[in-house]
Amino acid sequence: MYALGIESTAHTFGIGIVDEKGNVLANEKMTYTNPDAGIHPRLAAEFHLANGKNVLTRALNTANLSINDMDVIGFAQGPGLGPCLRVGAITARYLSTLANKPILGVNHCVAHISIGKNKTPSTNPVVVYTSGANTQIIAEENGKYRVLGETLDMGVGNALDQFGRKLGLGFPAGPVIDENYFLGKKYIPLPYSVKGMDLVFAGLLTEATSQIGKHDVNDLCYSFMHTAFCMVAEVTERALAHSEKKEVLVTGGVAASRALTHILQKLCDERGATLHVVPRAYAMDNGAMIAWQTLLEHRGGRKQRMEDTQVEQRYRTDHVDIFW
Ligand code: FE2
Repeated sequence: MYALGIESTAHTFGIGIVDEKGNVLANEKMTYTNPDAGIHPRLAAEFHLANGKNVLTRALNTANLSINDMDVIGFAQGPGLGPCLRVGAITARYLSTLANKPILGVNHCVAHISIGKNKTPSTNPVVVYTSGANTQIIAEENGKYRVLGETLDMGVGNALDQFGRKLGLGFPAGPVIDENYFLGKKYIPLPYSVKGMDLVFAGLLTEATSQIGKHDVNDLCYSFMHTAFCMVAEVTERALAHSEKKEVLVTGGVAASRALTHILQKLCDERGATLHVVPRAYAMDNGAMIAWQTLLEHRGGRKQRMEDTQVEQRYRTDHVDIFW
């Protein structure tokens, strides 16, 4: 059994192909970047349209398969940016109709969790899902992924990128700030806002931005990341205590941050929990995770009518039944 998955929720247009054992046969992508202004939804969608055929051809060639070999065509139905999501949905509808294959729209956040479980030994974790647009602390309870805590304003990746842009580090700035984190020597106090189980990053971003020019750049990057990730760690620790789970799985684009995993490793060591981090190739948005989620749901018997494939910009993680 083979599944093809299309990812287009934000700046990445990706196509992955997986087999039934969870082997990734292809994971091709192209990513829209704009160093000055972050992501512009319409321009990103135009980028996806312009490059989609190239990515599809590369994916099929890498897997050495044709579209007719697929058993199901999947796409990220949400959450994400409307114009970008629609390119993926239209591509999936076209390929499904062309090859006469079933179509399935899947939840992007749930796909991040499933590829994390596929690519690590994790089975029943507290999930730390951090990316540009999302930051959620999630645990499975009674057949759904419950969001135990989440950002109330922006994703931590977005906060990092905005701060990096103010520092003139380009986009995405996260990887550069991550290197600077380990060069910082002094902690500069910055606003730390955990509200119950939820997180707020705007105050941290505003105050850190106002400190640019007054301190060493490495110290600022260290202090910004340390504050943001300790907030994430605090909520993760309470989620571990509440759920009584013994694993933490880090997934999403910010999983590539060594600073984040450094802080979460300390937390896990103190609590006797095991830390699992999704490999870098599957941390950023990618088509393979959509393909794997599609295969799981197709194999589990889910069917979707073409008229139900409209995109859902606010498709919540906790709206998905875990039936596979
Ligand atoms: Fe994502």
